Amino acid sequence: MGYCMRGEGVRAFERCLSTTVPRQAQVPDTQIRQPGNSDVTEKQVDVKTIKAVFGDGTTSTYPHVWLRENCTCKSCFNSDAIARLFLIDDLCLDIRPNDAQVKGGNLHVEWSDGHLSTYTGKWLHERAFTPEARAKRRSRYMLSRHEEHDQVRSRKEGRKEKERKRPTFPIRANRPSLNRPVAHESDSKVRWGSGFQVPRLNFQSAMEEDQVLLDWLVQLEKFGVVLVEDAPTRVGTINDFIDTLGFIKSTHYGQDYEIINQITPNNLAYTGSKLGLHTDMPYYEYPPGTTWLHCIRQHEGKGGANVLSDGLNATELMKEIHPQHYATLVTTPIYFQDKGFQIYDFDKITKTTTIELDEQGKLKRLHTSSQSRDSIMDLTPEQILAFYSALKTFNNTLYEHSIEMKTKPGDILVLDNSRVMHSRTAFDPSTAKGPRHLHNAYIDWDELRSKRRVLQDKLGVSLT
Ligand code: OGA
Ligand code: ZN
Ligand code: ZN
Repeated sequence: MGYCMRGEGVRAFERCLSTTVPRQAQVPDTQIRQPGNSDVTEKQVDVKTIKAVFGDGTTSTYPHVWLRENCTCKSCFNSDAIARLFLIDDLCLDIRPNDAQVKGGNLHVEWSDGHLSTYTGKWLHERAFTPEARAKRRSRYMLSRHEEHDQVRSRKEGRKEKERKRPTFPIRANRPSLNRPVAHESDSKVRWGSGFQVPRLNFQSAMEEDQVLLDWLVQLEKFGVVLVEDAPTRVGTINDFIDTLGFIKSTHYGQDYEIINQITPNNLAYTGSKLGLHTDMPYYEYPPGTTWLHCIRQHEGKGGANVLSDGLNATELMKEIHPQHYATLVTTPIYFQDKGFQIYDFDKITKTTTIELDEQGKLKRLHTSSQSRDSIMDLTPEQILAFYSALKTFNNTLYEHSIEMKTKPGDILVLDNSRVMHSRTAFDPSTAKGPRHLHNAYIDWDELRSKRRVLQDKLGVSLT
């Protein structure tokens, strides 16, 4: 369906590094009163964490990186879309408070990057990292289990955390040369990095000739990205193409949706803001297998390009160069969420690791997005610190080995959403260089691989 927009009410995105950002989310001090259960009554600042004491006598420790990334001000978080605006790209791992104050039951922090944050006691209390608080939250997130079971889990938490830390797969510690040739065979998939030339093919030929379509499907499976050129600039073209392959993958945004700049944008995608490297819909247990971005109209000024990075290449590099961080990303479960109304009310939550492996220890699927990674985490503060270090290293690796391309009207960029991450560079939609308009749809790998096999049989082609 047309004109489906994700989330609601995102306003202009502001960088969080300015020293002049006002205390927008600051709650005014109230009169002297008895602290409520979730009011912060005291704080203790340590090297990497802040410990908060609450009115109900409970305490919780919050890592600086987690607090900074999850600042709730309008510049960092869109409360209508329930989506983070602050990107992992802009998070410094050594962020620390220059000043921290408890006022009116809330925690106010002035960060070393100059940003000012206010965290209400309620917000912090809801996100406490104690075993009890985490066990309680699990029942909302994953349907209530037997109470006794949760309590048993809480008691066993310490031991389980330790077990979870231990990687359960072999790690190759040998360091490869970073200057290795870009393409490297791993089964049928070919790793790529910066300098990679995206395979291209003509829309009409793919629609009309089985052999071209088969080649296209094979290339997509191998490289995780193909650019289809010279397609009509009509909304619905990708639906027609997908119809020749199998059924489209519907999501709670419908069968497809449009990425158009809006005067009052209701999602970060509909502004000119930068989008960080991400996979689409990581809050689905089975995220769409492939993402299709059809350029109807491109912004003619600076920006609006797509940065692409091969997650297969980056995860292999992580395994080889940063095995501990790799282990963390393979073993640390995190939540992704998306809540709102589109065609119906939705409240999607998935708990998964950043790197999901198959039964042979090979990459199965990547899940990452600054926008929809949940601030609620079922982890200890120590695990959270390890997770941020690993994620930041992964993000840096992805960018280091990325390519950038700006699609033109009639281009359809098709991406393996389990593997190739995509982002968008910032652009100014208000200039005379014109608006930008993309049309987006999904189809799963089940359909694409099925089509490939059908064509192989039909054409009598066997692939090695
Ligand atoms: C998205 C997205 C890319 C673009 O909306 O998820 O990746 O080029 N958009 O706007
Ligand atoms: Zn902020
Ligand atoms: Zn996307």
